[in-house]
Amino acid sequence: MSERVPVGILGATGMVGQQFVTFLRDHPWFEVTWLGASDRSAGKTYREATSWRLSGVMPPGVRDIVVSECRPEAGAPRLMFSSMDAGVATEIEQSFAAAGHTVVSNSRNHRMDADVPLLVPEINADHLELLSEQRRKRGWAGQIVTNPNCSTIVMVMALAPLKQFGIQRVMATTMQAISGAGYPGVASMDINANVVPFISGEEEKMERETQKILGDFVDGRVEALKARVSAACNRVPVVDGHMVAVSVELEKKVSEVELIGAMRGWRGVPQQRGLPSAPPCPVIYMDEADRPQPRRDVERENGMAVFVGRMRRCPVLDFKFMALGHNTVRGAAGAAVLNAEMMKAEGWLDY
Ligand SMILES: NC(=O)c1ccc[n+]([C@@H]2O[C@H](COP(=O)([O-])OP(=O)(O)OC[C@H]3O[C@@H](n4cnc5c(N)ncnc54)[C@H](OP(=O)(O)O)[C@@H]3O)[C@@H](O)[C@H]2O)c1
Repeated sequence: MSERVPVGILGATGMVGQQFVTFLRDHPWFEVTWLGASDRSAGKTYREATSWRLSGVMPPGVRDIVVSECRPEAGAPRLMFSSMDAGVATEIEQSFAAAGHTVVSNSRNHRMDADVPLLVPEINADHLELLSEQRRKRGWAGQIVTNPNCSTIVMVMALAPLKQFGIQRVMATTMQAISGAGYPGVASMDINANVVPFISGEEEKMERETQKILGDFVDGRVEALKARVSAACNRVPVVDGHMVAVSVELEKKVSEVELIGAMRGWRGVPQQRGLPSAPPCPVIYMDEADRPQPRRDVERENGMAVFVGRMRRCPVLDFKFMALGHNTVRGAAGAAVLNAEMMKAEGWLDY
């Protein structure tokens, strides 16, 4: 068996960091050898520094790794996943990129930078071409790539197969799981038997990130999708899984059957290349009248596919449907790992 690529995790002790550690356990290409967090955790073993919040036990391979401060240092692997507190991610991620590391980030900090790919490899693998300009302009020996916000990715995966029909306007209402708020997240007194109709910054992220992700790479830059996007975001008492109710207006006249067929037949480069974390069908359309549902569907396909159902005519726009995705897998750690697999497969880690 060929040697695995050593990888590090910036923000390894947090909720998403724990998802990374779990998702990368037994990964065929990558091996976690380095863990970073704040100076509160540095110097302790991962087991001592981390309050383990996920189901199951901490993977044995990482328990005794001594946590480092998040500073480029001798022995830190070239490939770094990042899930640091957004308040500190900008400078730290940039310092790693400048020092020659590839930072595959979950944080929002660099997503909308014009020279940073906001990558969903099934949709916009060609946006990786931004990296040449990024490295040239910023003078970095390394590079930064990001993945989308956890509700944005659910919606864009469902919309991507419809792009061929000319997306004009999108209205989206989310029902977002409490795990998306990290730990301890929303107070139980606020979320039990309740709905909270506000998630700070979320609506703006869904509107802007969607246009960038579905945009075209033209003349060395991303031309944002011209569609108008409106999002209304809500926190609901669900543990894992973000649901999005989407209405869409399309330029071309199509039927529900054609839209469902486009979703079912949609594949991207990760599927063609057989990347280890790529779901065989990135969008799974469900015929049952009452699906998808978070509790029943979100863990399927290793949390990497998006489930869609209830495609029907919309009396205001053209069509409406429901989409569901795993917010801490496809919306966080799993998305970043797939991004890194894509970069490896396409030679972006060979520098
Ligand atoms: N939760 C989600 O579902 C989700 C989804 C997508 C994206 N994100 C994004 O992912 C990031 C992490 O979210 P989270 O929920 O995992 O947060 P979290 O549980 O609060 O974890 C934050 C991590 O950042 C580290 N950190 C804090 N201050 C630091 C510093 N000065 N230097 C270096 N590391 C520092 C923490 O280390 P210590 O333990 O030592 O304090 C911890 O490892 C955020 O940017 C968030 O917006 C979260």
